[in-house]
Amino acid sequence: MGERIAVGVIGAAGRGGNLLRVRDGLEVRVRAVCDVRAEPLAAAKRALGAEESFADYRDMLASVPLDAVIVGTPMPFHAEQAIAALECGVSVLSEVPAAVSIDECRRLVAACRAGSAAYMMAENYLSMRQNQIVKEIVAAGLFGTVYFGDGEYLHELRGAPQYNPTPWRRRWQQGINGITYGTHSLGPLLSWMPGDRVERVACAGTGHHYRDHRGRRYEAEDSSVMLGQMRSGGLVKIRVDMLSDRPHATHNYQLQGTDGCYESARADGERDRIWVRARSSKTEWRDLEELADEFLPARWRRWEEAARGAGHGGGDLIQMLDFVDAVRDGTEPELGIDAAMDMTLPGLVSQRSIEQGGAWLEVPDSRDW
Ligand SMILES: NC(=O)c1ccc[n+]([C@@H]2O[C@H](COP(=O)([O-])OP(=O)(O)OC[C@H]3O[C@@H](n4cnc5c(N)ncnc54)[C@H](O)[C@@H]3O)[C@@H](O)[C@H]2O)c1
Repeated sequence: MGERIAVGVIGAAGRGGNLLRVRDGLEVRVRAVCDVRAEPLAAAKRALGAEESFADYRDMLASVPLDAVIVGTPMPFHAEQAIAALECGVSVLSEVPAAVSIDECRRLVAACRAGSAAYMMAENYLSMRQNQIVKEIVAAGLFGTVYFGDGEYLHELRGAPQYNPTPWRRRWQQGINGITYGTHSLGPLLSWMPGDRVERVACAGTGHHYRDHRGRRYEAEDSSVMLGQMRSGGLVKIRVDMLSDRPHATHNYQLQGTDGCYESARADGERDRIWVRARSSKTEWRDLEELADEFLPARWRRWEEAARGAGHGGGDLIQMLDFVDAVRDGTEPELGIDAAMDMTLPGLVSQRSIEQGGAWLEVPDSRDW
């Protein structure tokens, strides 16, 4: 076993603590926790075995020697808290999206470039088992040239009682038109199109059919669809809907290449299916699971049992292992700042596009900043 990294968790009583639900074998020591809610913070401190707790993350950063922080707070705090940690030389695992404005993105990128601490975005859907298998099949060349991807996040959050009193979701996820929460859909697609990025987006919506608990119309249209033109000339299509009445379907994907295609299961009882020219006749779908023996990455194989207890199909644990490696070994995480920007910026630009009647707008490349 290597040396444990000293971690502080911001938003410890919510998503931050949840990311560490499975810790057996993970080389972290939870040195401190932070949350603005006192009682849940005390419970999180006990549950995570933390040594100290704080109501303000700045006090935690100033007084505890940390290798890394997990930023698991609501969306509008991600960039501000990540920048503060990076400025102290502390590595960051930030919840998604990386930031809520292009200006914040620029400041976050500058903070990453100015220091040597690691930054990783916690886009855990990339680390889900089935998405990792598809990634390996793409990497083996079995899809040929990939030129189309489709991702959907359909998660009605109006009715859920735990979300209604959470004003930040009403403001930042349902209170802005366009793609406000797109990284779960776009992230895996980009990991299946290595080296490519979204250069331009256009976004349109379906209109408004629901009202909030105060009877007000949501600023977001029920469904927003963003088209993204890839640098390679390919296309991605992202649909996000956090308002419409329907069963959840948060990880729907399709991928098309010259030699293969993939369609994820859309509901319980369905199976992920794949067709690749090299392994099937022209008309024959195969169950993705039939290729798992050959293409499930070694890390997943090794941690499979522990991952069953972790959130998001085990993705939460697998990404945490990647982060711990990056911090301990001083290596750049695969989901580092430029990858985080490639997943975050298209959604932010889509919000301008939908305002401008669906105009095609350029997505800045953080590598040029
Ligand atoms: N990757 C995923 O699968 C996934 C799943 C759920 C949520 N999320 C993201 O995680 C983030 C948190 O979501 P949530 O549902 O846990 O939200 P939440 O409202 O429960 O907030 C998380 C925690 O942060 C605390 N908090 C709020 N403001 C704070 C501050 N300024 N400083 C310290 N603590 C503060 C809250 O008290 C709460 O305990 C959001 O950005 C959300 O989009 C991601």
